[in-house]
Amino acid sequence: MSADGRRWAVVPAAGRGERYGGRAPKQYERILGRPVLSWTLAALLADRSIRRVVVALAAGDRRFGRLDEASDARVQACPGGAERSISVANALESLAGAARDEDWVLVHDAARPCLQAADLRALIDGVGRDPVGGLLAVPVGETLKRAGSNGRVESTVSRDGLWRALTPQMFRYGLLKRALALCIDRERNVTDEAAAIEAMGLRPRLVRGRGDNIKITHPEDRGLAAAILAARARG
Ligand code: CTP
Ligand code: MG
Repeated sequence: MSADGRRWAVVPAAGRGERYGGRAPKQYERILGRPVLSWTLAALLADRSIRRVVVALAAGDRRFGRLDEASDARVQACPGGAERSISVANALESLAGAARDEDWVLVHDAARPCLQAADLRALIDGVGRDPVGGLLAVPVGETLKRAGSNGRVESTVSRDGLWRALTPQMFRYGLLKRALALCIDRERNVTDEAAAIEAMGLRPRLVRGRGDNIKITHPEDRGLAAAILAARARG
């Protein structure tokens, strides 16, 4: 069942990329000659059902304005915050007056440039008219170890029922705004939107996505993302 309601997108892009390092924040690192954020925004803009894409930026960001996508009529910027949840909450606030509570918001990491149109569609269709909303995710493939002291394995963790959470994550505007406000208010640190929804006692739907929708987190991820995007360009 296809999702009802209007759709908006939010891209938190105010992080500093500390694990990645480098001179510029990772969302501006070039992959195949094009900044990461540019790839990410193009993937969302390709879906004409998304009315607007709000990008949350770090204070003093002078790189965003130079992206081709920054001048797209459907793209707008807003100030980010010290935590990802604050960046997303600010972006939602900047949609106040335009978005209605029952509209859908798709939140997608700036650092995930390899999102495919088919996955975006799978999320929208997979969530359908779900009362809670959901997220793209992938079942964990590797064997998991819990580390003990001295860098040794303490135990093997069963991967049964474990999934890796990806983005986009798609929730109703009103619900997501309330969920994030509660977490921020209680200083509860959440690293994705689903965790904020879960903190309200709700259970987001898992929609299986592609494992190559990677997040650029560490330096080696840049080469991976380049290979994924180049392979796709070759068809
Ligand atoms: N993000 C944000 N505002 C923050 C922190 C993160 O908008 N205060 C964004 C990042 O720009 C990124 C996404 O949230 O697109 C996912 O976060 P992550 O991969 O953790 O990026 P960084 O926080 O930049 O990286 P690190 O944690 O290594 O510093
Ligand atoms: Mg971070």
